[in-house]
Amino acid sequence: MLEIIITAVWLMLPAYISNPMAVVFGGGTPVDLGKNWKDGRRILGDGKTFRGLIGGTVCGVIIGLIQMWFSPLVPLGSFTLTAVITLSFGALLGDMVKSFFKRRLGYSRGAKLPLIDQLDFVAGAWFLTYVFDPRWFSENFLSSPWIIITVLILTPLFHRLTNIFGYYIKLKKEPW
Ligand code: CTP
Ligand code: MG
Repeated sequence: MLEIIITAVWLMLPAYISNPMAVVFGGGTPVDLGKNWKDGRRILGDGKTFRGLIGGTVCGVIIGLIQMWFSPLVPLGSFTLTAVITLSFGALLGDMVKSFFKRRLGYSRGAKLPLIDQLDFVAGAWFLTYVFDPRWFSENFLSSPWIIITVLILTPLFHRLTNIFGYYIKLKKEPW
């Protein structure tokens, strides 16, 4: 059980880092350049910025590279460079796709969407990794449903805790 949890965290770490680091680096020019969609609402909103996207991805990739470096010493599964990049970038892509649909449904920036706000980045990370490195993805996730289940249960808990912390240190405007 503990081994499954540790393996799940290890495999998801690039995504677990890129997502909160986007909050740390966020600000400045929004990815949608301030433009509106046909419905008159913002395409993505001010909560998705280039600085967040790039800063978050770079931090996730750096962690993944460190993990690749250490994997001969750690018996928890090794990474490919593709997986490191798709886990980090895919997490933030999933978060942006979520914001796109949030805006279409009329939710304003920062509005709360339980579970979706917490699992968007997991979906994005898995999707992009499955597309670009299906072999790594099947070996590490598809072949072990317990890892998938563990990630789906643990992520909302981790997400809640990090965001409450981010709110108290005044990095985040909302505690979710
Ligand atoms: N952030 C960013 N760029 C990203 C993702 C996040 O700059 N690609 C920063 C923004 O400052 C954002 C904060 O991190 O306000 C929190 O991220 P998140 O909760 O994902 O966005 P929300 O502001 O809640 O916007 P949305 O309603 O679109 O989810
Ligand atoms: Mg939010």
